[in-house]
Amino acid sequence: MQIFAAVSPSSSPKIKVSRMKAGFWESIRSGFLKNNTTQVIEPTSTLEEGEGPLPQEFVLVEKTHPDGSIEQIIFSSGGDVDVYDLQALCDKVGWPRRPLSKLAAALKNSYMVAALHSIRKSPEQFDDRKKLIGMARATSDHAFNATIWDVLVDPNYQGQGLGKALVEKLIRALLQRDIGNITLFADSQVVEFYRNLGFEPDPEGIKGMFWYPRY
Ligand SMILES: CC(C)(COP(=O)(O)OP(=O)(O)OC[C@H]1O[C@@H](n2cnc3c(N)ncnc32)[C@H](O)[C@@H]1OP(=O)(O)O)[C@@H](O)C(=O)NCCC(=O)NCCS
Repeated sequence: MQIFAAVSPSSSPKIKVSRMKAGFWESIRSGFLKNNTTQVIEPTSTLEEGEGPLPQEFVLVEKTHPDGSIEQIIFSSGGDVDVYDLQALCDKVGWPRRPLSKLAAALKNSYMVAALHSIRKSPEQFDDRKKLIGMARATSDHAFNATIWDVLVDPNYQGQGLGKALVEKLIRALLQRDIGNITLFADSQVVEFYRNLGFEPDPEGIKGMFWYPRY
């Protein structure tokens, strides 16, 4: 089952929001009008005090392993994702295979592709091969709305806060481009994950509705 969710203010401490006065759909149709009651993210306020604009690529985490090697987890939002690496990552989380050509088209036509790569350096050798360990992408009308798709983290790296960081940074990058209506479709087992990030299921009773071809 999937649900429709829209960014909501309440549960994510890092995302501050403002309450506006018109309905949800009105805010989508017309942007953020002054008379709007929908709770929406206020672009500038998502940046924490003292934080500047998000760079397109930066080191999110650096950790030293028992063998002395140093691993860096790099966040990027510039679309630097190899389609074969992505397919391998999708396999790892058990998603059904999608045709590579379609996956490549989806990446190419996404508005923003955020990725987490791991790079490991040891005292003896520097392995500069980047391993894809997480991805999330967003499609958009480039003005008001974005929808997040394909959020996934390598199972070997899950449970370390990386999925949360990935989605938070993607939201921040979208807000920096003044795109404030951010939605997604959550598999039932990850509804709480997104709720923790500030997403709200069915705001004002709005339901996600699907049309499937009947073969
Ligand atoms: C969902 C997913 C991206 C989460 O990534 P992750 O790196 O393991 O998540 P994090 O470690 O950042 O978790 C952040 C918080 O969410 C919680 N959380 C993580 N997965 C959760 C889940 N499935 N349900 C509820 N809460 C979850 C964590 O406990 C953590 O809570 P805390 O902040 O109170 O400590 C990852 O499990 C995944 O790739 N799953 C398979 C693909 C998938 O289902 N994607 C979603 C498709 S809609």
